Amino acid sequence: MPVPDRFRAFRIHNDDAGYHSGIEQVSLDDLSPGELVIRVAHSSVNYKDALAGTGAGKILRRFPLVGGIDVAGHVVASRDPGFREGDAVLITGCGQSETRDGGYADYARLEAKSAVHLPVGLDLRESMILGTAGFTAALALLRLQENRQTPDLGPLVVTGATGGVGSLAIDIFSRAGYEVHAVSGKAAQAPYLHAIGAREVLGRDALATTRPLESARFGGGLDTVGGPMLVSLLAQTAPYGSVASAGLAASAELDATVMPFILRGVSLLGIAASGTPRVLRDEVWRRLSSDWKPAHLATICTQDVALDALPAVFDAMLAGGAQGRTLVTL
Ligand SMILES: NC(=O)c1ccc[n+]([C@@H]2O[C@H](COP(=O)([O-])OP(=O)(O)OC[C@H]3O[C@@H](n4cnc5c(N)ncnc54)[C@H](OP(=O)(O)O)[C@@H]3O)[C@@H](O)[C@H]2O)c1
Repeated sequence: MPVPDRFRAFRIHNDDAGYHSGIEQVSLDDLSPGELVIRVAHSSVNYKDALAGTGAGKILRRFPLVGGIDVAGHVVASRDPGFREGDAVLITGCGQSETRDGGYADYARLEAKSAVHLPVGLDLRESMILGTAGFTAALALLRLQENRQTPDLGPLVVTGATGGVGSLAIDIFSRAGYEVHAVSGKAAQAPYLHAIGAREVLGRDALATTRPLESARFGGGLDTVGGPMLVSLLAQTAPYGSVASAGLAASAELDATVMPFILRGVSLLGIAASGTPRVLRDEVWRRLSSDWKPAHLATICTQDVALDALPAVFDAMLAGGAQGRTLVTL
């Protein structure tokens, strides 16, 4: 299928005019090299996209780049034997909107080594409601289970619960048989959190402690917030439970003692979705499209926007106001 000479892209610049981003017309030759060209169907908005799109965080390592760390669509041209015209593919992370052009465009040029065939069990829209956020939540569960996290150890806490990673983690963890306790600053969203699988909804202060060890109320959890929230969760995790650290929505600091580690055998697991080795990446998508496919994707997808809505979505997200996932439809 021919690609038009010019098409729309949401591009991020850092030049003499300062840091700026917006919709412009580009051509295929403007995009990073790759063996595949796809007609983009959907992308999504992650916290990292908001940092990149506004310049609030140093995400891009070269300029200009098309934004969007996630992308899904159909192949329109392929120079790789593993992909044919018409194939449905997706990429999450893998340097998009960091070192390579990303998914906020009508067409994208992708590296075949990073592209994943859309798994049976997901459509393109569902794959981008999941996106990096769903991938991160499922990767966390994979790592927790590899570290022997079983439901009988106690409830799993999910912090930043109404956010993208948080919402999908609640759904996936509860589907996998864990009791989930959601920690959120949005008290009014308790019905939403219960509806997607949370057994208990706690306020942000509910975990707060400055003591190195508290009574072990939880089996472990997934933290997207960082700082004192993560330290407090470690102090309340049961012997041989694990806490997966995925985010820094509040803080990148970790001012903790070793007590949970040396007296309770608690583990702190790192989650880095972008650099996940291929074998693990394929396993995460296999689970997301089968037994861990979230049951409440329609509820969790709270917005479906076009490219021109991105600046407002970024601002709301950085202000902590995001709920669920924002899909981007091209
Ligand atoms: N490690 C990885 O590979 C990876 C992958 C994806 C995302 N992340 C990180 O995970 C975090 C969440 O990403 P996301 O895409 O889910 O973002 P998001 O949709 O904006 O969700 C973040 C949520 O965190 C909570 N929050 C925000 N500010 C807070 C504060 N000051 N104190 C406590 N809670 C706060 C809010 O939930 P409540 O109002 O419900 O508390 C907010 O909705 C980000 O830091 C992101 O960079 C990491």
